Amino acid sequence: MNIKLAENIYYVGVNDRRTELFENHMELPNGVSYNSYLIVDEHIALIDPVEPEFMAQYISQIKRIIGDRKVDYLIVNHDEPDHSGSVGAVLREWPEVTVVGNAKTFAPLENFYGPIANKKIVAEGETLSLGGHTLQFFMAPMCHWPESMATYEQTSKIIFSNDAFGGFGALNGGIFDDEVNLEYYEADMRRYYANIVGKVAMMALKTIQKVSTLEIKMIAPSHGLIWRSNLQWVIDRYTAWSKHEAKEGVVIVYGSMYGNTGRMADIVARGVAEAGVKEIKVYDVSKTEESFIFSDIWQYKGVILGACSHYGSIFPNMVGLLHEIGEYKPQNKVFGLFGGASWSGGGLKTLKENAEKNNWNIVGEPIEVKGAPIREEDVEKLYKLGVEIGNIVKS
Ligand code: FEO
Repeated sequence: MNIKLAENIYYVGVNDRRTELFENHMELPNGVSYNSYLIVDEHIALIDPVEPEFMAQYISQIKRIIGDRKVDYLIVNHDEPDHSGSVGAVLREWPEVTVVGNAKTFAPLENFYGPIANKKIVAEGETLSLGGHTLQFFMAPMCHWPESMATYEQTSKIIFSNDAFGGFGALNGGIFDDEVNLEYYEADMRRYYANIVGKVAMMALKTIQKVSTLEIKMIAPSHGLIWRSNLQWVIDRYTAWSKHEAKEGVVIVYGSMYGNTGRMADIVARGVAEAGVKEIKVYDVSKTEESFIFSDIWQYKGVILGACSHYGSIFPNMVGLLHEIGEYKPQNKVFGLFGGASWSGGGLKTLKENAEKNNWNIVGEPIEVKGAPIREEDVEKLYKLGVEIGNIVKS
């Protein structure tokens, strides 16, 4: 059973349902795919290998299609080891293969895997003929690393976009967009986008704009679905996420040791709901892995953060999320802040420091509650903060 994208162009990717943490920090409840493509022509080209754990399966899939023929070119669109990890396996299997990358590809690649004997450096727009098929290369710097690029096959009009237009989620039999329910993949695509490409959203947008000048019949990324029937669906979403378009909704994230700051979050959430907002997500930062929370922060307009104190500073489990918000800089947000204090304050103080440092658009007065939210004035302030943010989000 060979999976064809077009005549003599095959899918040779693998599914990973075993790895628990992508990049060793993002959970993968639905797995992930490492997509690779094989073009069989007068010359044979492989486009982007796979994660090294799968190299034996990967090589065997390729050999099943090409038999005793050799791979002539290995196109490395991106050096990150989830793709390039099997470069060594390909070189061992077909030692004469020419590795194709751009001017920024080979220094990191050789730092990972040692010297590469046969290299071909391609520039923007350059072509490489395989016989009946012609590859054309387009640089996509910082989408996701400096050397990232995309490869366009001129005959079939397929763009091999690597990380761009990718998503989490193993491919469960359906490889193409028209073989699955897209809603199943959407949240995992947004989580992938926000946490991996979000920091370089502007570069992702530039890549989208660049490839949209080409005639494209299929988008074949290196993770997730291959797009042949719903190209506009994925382009629209990637464009909206890259432009930081914010939906009507509020994310409330709290860090709480004994549940008191969690109680505050519930009061704030009630205020948001009474303002008429229907999409409200409340997360305990100790319970839900950060990439899920950040994915919702990316998509919604309202972000309310609450944290208890810890030795005069903030509850430790909030620190990673604050770092990600500070580094990735999601835009078009309104923020609200609250904190809990016991023998020391510090939770709210740290949130305010982050707000100042990152120029967050803070709505309302940040609220610090001593102990539990049992005093009427504290309950009132928390509730009003929710209403205020809810009203702005609605407007
Ligand atoms: Fe899928 Fe940036 O590697």
